[in-house]
Amino acid sequence: MTGQKKETALEDRGQEGARLFSPSAARNRDPIRDVFLKYLPETGAVLEIGSGTGEHGVHIAAAAPGLRWFSGDPDGAARASIAAHIAASGLGNIDGPHAVDVCERDWDAALAGPFDTVVSINMVHIAPFAAAEGLFAGAARLLHSGGRLLLYGPFAQAGVHSAPSNEAFDASLKSRDPRWGVRDLEHDIAPLAQEHAFRRDAIVEMPANNFTVVFAKR
Ligand SMILES: C[S@@+](CC[C@H](N)C(=O)[O-])C[C@H]1O[C@@H](n2cnc3c(N)ncnc32)[C@H](O)[C@@H]1O
Repeated sequence: MTGQKKETALEDRGQEGARLFSPSAARNRDPIRDVFLKYLPETGAVLEIGSGTGEHGVHIAAAAPGLRWFSGDPDGAARASIAAHIAASGLGNIDGPHAVDVCERDWDAALAGPFDTVVSINMVHIAPFAAAEGLFAGAARLLHSGGRLLLYGPFAQAGVHSAPSNEAFDASLKSRDPRWGVRDLEHDIAPLAQEHAFRRDAIVEMPANNFTVVFAKR
């Protein structure tokens, strides 16, 4: 992959066979599922980018039988975990893993769409900004008018971090890799949305100073 060459887990993950378990996913998976379900269609195809362990996809797909969920990650260990979580879930409405790296040119070209929604949880701050650029560009090509792009993670707003802990997190990300960092919804993300014809429909405050941000393709 081009965009990310290092271990991106910022926490000690549990492991059972190939399945990885993220402590943060255990904490935030219910609020993420509950808010995402408000903005996902009842039926349709969802492409998840940067699925990591794969826990969020399985958790949301289990609660949304009308959706077809497609998980994936450019990291090989993550893909093995995703495949094992999908198999263990017994769910018929989740597939994967794909190996999409949104820093690669035309990453969407090989996917068998169409997709109604693209989601990415905790990705754009733990990747070069090119990943956010690539995510918006590819989502714009994949989605029809009205299709949504859902992002979850820490974000600053107009130059202001949502909490001192997020400012410290931003500094620690940048010390690990200067290309990483908490993105600013107005300064960083809004120009991408405008360039790729997305309207920002909602910013939902989530636990621990995170946000779900909802975009819709014009
Ligand atoms: C912090 S983890 C989040 C995983 C999961 N979404 C979660 O919230 O538990 C970030 C994930 O983004 C993936 N990632 C990083 N750069 C990427 C890129 N350019 N394209 C797609 N995924 C990427 C990493 O491999 C990693 O699994």
